[in-house]
Amino acid sequence: MNLIVISCSLNSESKSSALAQFVYRELKDSEYNVDHIVLMGLNLPTCDGSSCYSNEKVVIVSEKIKKAAGILIATPIYNYDVSAATKNLVELTGKAWNEKIVGFMCAAGGYGSYMSVMPFANSLMLDYRCTIIPRFVYTTSEDFNDNNIQNQKINKRLQELSNDFLHYSKIFGIKKDSR
Ligand SMILES: Cc1cc2nc3c(=O)[nH]c(=O)nc-3n(C[C@H](O)[C@H](O)[C@H](O)COP(=O)(O)O)c2cc1C
Repeated sequence: MNLIVISCSLNSESKSSALAQFVYRELKDSEYNVDHIVLMGLNLPTCDGSSCYSNEKVVIVSEKIKKAAGILIATPIYNYDVSAATKNLVELTGKAWNEKIVGFMCAAGGYGSYMSVMPFANSLMLDYRCTIIPRFVYTTSEDFNDNNIQNQKINKRLQELSNDFLHYSKIFGIKKDSR
């Protein structure tokens, strides 16, 4: 079974990327194939609804997403939503997201944007029948010392998310294989 952790921040001093690295370290020694996709430096095109779909990098990322049973998204919160780069990834790869298990880790500036990931989660559920793990990790700048996680509660929540992610993906993977 293939699993993916995706770092969606384009900031070289990203806090959400630290969350992604933590869960990738938790998951990489599991019995599954775990990949870590980092959007920073990948320079994916902006979705134009047309020629972008034949871009070589888009084709490669789409194929990886298509083959995965579960995907953990680490995203910045921008303007009370996931960042444009996160949304652009789904616009570029569309149906590759069909029926994935999806979990979220977010880095935000403050507490007020707590529910911001939900419109994006709704679109994954309703457009692509993804199953959203009902446990996401929300962090603010107070949880970090520079870009290092300093709040031990966040480490614990990331471990819990990793465990739930494996659990849900395993059930989903088996269900899919038996069709
Ligand atoms: C354009 C922009 C918009 C932002 N909007 C919000 C917001 O709506 N709510 C919030 O809590 N933080 C907001 N922030 C703060 C970021 O969420 C915060 O810097 C976070 O660490 C970004 O994730 P990253 O470090 O992984 O890039 C915004 C930052 C930027 C640059």
